Amino acid sequence: MYKYPVAEPEIGEKELKNVIEAVKSGWVSSKGKFIEEFENSFARYIGVKHGVATSNGTTALHLALAALGVGPGDEVVVPDLTFAATINAVLYVGARPVIVDVDPSYWCLDPRELEKAITERTKAVMVVHLYGHPCDMDAIMEVAERHGLYVVEDAAEAHGAEYRGRKVGGFGHVSCFSFYGNKIITTGEGGMCLTNDEELAERMRVLRDHGMDPKRRYWHNVVGFNYRMTNLQAALGIAQLSKIERFVEKKRMIARWYAEELSSVKGIALHPEMPWAKCVYWLYSILIDEEKTGLSKDELAQRLQGYGIETRNLFYPLHEMPPYQGYATSSYPTSSAISRRGLSLPSSVKLEEEDVAFIAQRIREAIKG
Ligand SMILES: Cc1ncc(COP(=O)(O)O)c(C=O)c1O
Repeated sequence: MYKYPVAEPEIGEKELKNVIEAVKSGWVSSKGKFIEEFENSFARYIGVKHGVATSNGTTALHLALAALGVGPGDEVVVPDLTFAATINAVLYVGARPVIVDVDPSYWCLDPRELEKAITERTKAVMVVHLYGHPCDMDAIMEVAERHGLYVVEDAAEAHGAEYRGRKVGGFGHVSCFSFYGNKIITTGEGGMCLTNDEELAERMRVLRDHGMDPKRRYWHNVVGFNYRMTNLQAALGIAQLSKIERFVEKKRMIARWYAEELSSVKGIALHPEMPWAKCVYWLYSILIDEEKTGLSKDELAQRLQGYGIETRNLFYPLHEMPPYQGYATSSYPTSSAISRRGLSLPSSVKLEEEDVAFIAQRIREAIKG
């Protein structure tokens, strides 16, 4: 147990009250009043018409690709720097992932690399708003539209993030969110697909429920999945959603505190935020230049651990890991460097200014030696 964990949910009386109500009602599986309410309220928050709640963020990604008809023979472009669920979803539908590098200034899929990776087989691109920073959606959508690609936004880490004043999750054909315990709002496990396309939403609902014909029970026209969210999860989600604006602002406040404390430390690059972006800093992360700090990232992590401060490495580049090596198409200098140098710091909404000051002070001391 860490005194300062990287992530920790804030769950209170409201969540408890809703979950108790769901339990007492007997609607504990995937029927019940909270599910639709959560779908509608979350979709409204992001500014998208339809919400399809799922059992987790990974099933949301799989469901989205399956409903778009992506499959064998298709190529799907993914960024090298992301959680494995993004590329796994491509493999689940039998398509071929094509891994591309990220932009050095904000760590997300580089639209220029997307353009270079397109072939006549490319069907879709999955853009990941990494660590809460939005992708450059104008550039992505321009390339995608020119080449007739589907755009799936993996917004698992970016609830409430904005690109040029508009929330992410509303740009692509479909977007996918995660409500895992360390995410900006949580339902324990949980996820959601959002889309403005009514037919696509309906296909996702059918596929989510075993592919069963909604008008003819136990009749299946397609092979589907059981990817439903439970009423218990949705009960938790509604309570969390009522606090989302406070959570997002707190994440941004924590980022400002870290930035004030660490901006003058030589060898540390702060978590970026582009002028066109509202980053929600899912996990506040820094890049460490070992030559300038004189301290390895692992050593720093170990010193901090001694004070009860948890840190976490950034994701490993996909192209380096055994299941995905075969999908590398070029070299990946940017994602490799960011991954090698990156460290996520405690980012829970429960942190206060003195906690961040304490953590930053320990970082400064460690670096000074
Ligand atoms: C970028 C990204 N995509 C997908 C997922 C998968 O979500 P889940 O853990 O809810 O399956 C996560 C997080 O876990 C993630 O960080």
